[in-house]
Amino acid sequence: MNLAEEIKKLKKEMNAVILAHNYQRGEVQRIADFTGDSLQLARKATEIDADYIVFAGVDFMAETAAVLNPDKTVLIPSQVASCEMAIFLTPEMIEEARKKYPGAAVVLYVNSTAACKAMADITCTSANAVRVVESLNEDTVLFGPDSNLAQYVAKRTAKKIIPLPPNGHCYVHTNLMPENVRHDGVLLVHPECPMEMQNEADVIASTGGMIRYVAKSDAKRFVVATERDMVERLKMEFPEREFVPAWPDAICLGMKQITLRKVYESMKEKKYVVKVNDEIASKAKKAIERMLEVS
Ligand code: 13P
Ligand code: SF4
Repeated sequence: MNLAEEIKKLKKEMNAVILAHNYQRGEVQRIADFTGDSLQLARKATEIDADYIVFAGVDFMAETAAVLNPDKTVLIPSQVASCEMAIFLTPEMIEEARKKYPGAAVVLYVNSTAACKAMADITCTSANAVRVVESLNEDTVLFGPDSNLAQYVAKRTAKKIIPLPPNGHCYVHTNLMPENVRHDGVLLVHPECPMEMQNEADVIASTGGMIRYVAKSDAKRFVVATERDMVERLKMEFPEREFVPAWPDAICLGMKQITLRKVYESMKEKKYVVKVNDEIASKAKKAIERMLEVS
């Protein structure tokens, strides 16, 4: 039996569901029960009827699934599948900023640790960031950890957006600059890209938003300014269209830790169980659920 078949068998035996992010390797996306962007995956995690959730993505996504499902076992196939953006922000930084800006709301991108989310008023993803900010009563918003997404939101709301910290970013997207990328197709740009790149975009969207945009578009060729394997996802969805990575070196090493073999071993050995401290989990859950309510 090949690995994909073994995984299928284990899924049945364990009553497990595999969730995968759009940046996962094609081989992993193909065995997943559901593939999506951060918001779609967080929502899906609330709808699952299974004993195990195997999360093919990075740590903060698996933590979100664990926080939303205290009664299920969440497994992540690698202990080093981490998001480098999340480490830009610490609970201490949030505490200090709250003192400096009393009365400001704290909106945290889901690409943050559970300990930080526990201190947020609400979380957001790139798919709903503007909607989340607009849903608040406060006029001043501390927004972190992605300063590029903060700028994207600031351009689309009258509220005062203060990036927390001022320089938080994703190393994969930060190099996606107009001078580094190709421009020979409809340009799809993720809002984690710097403003210079966002300004060149035909559309700025989350990974799920990119799929929705292509579905409505008549164009045949698209240049994809985000993690390279988003192209795999788009090709699977629209085999008759052409997709090229804006820059082929845009690779998220955290996402690439997950392979078909690691998924198999994770299921076979029931590792690595994602655990979030109870107190942190219950506070983080409120911020995540509030986001799900407004989006
Ligand atoms: P999406 O929510 O658009 O899938 O983005 C998640 C992410 O980590 C982008 O780098
Ligand atoms: Fe984090 Fe960047 Fe990887 Fe997205 S692409 S998971 S923001 S490191």
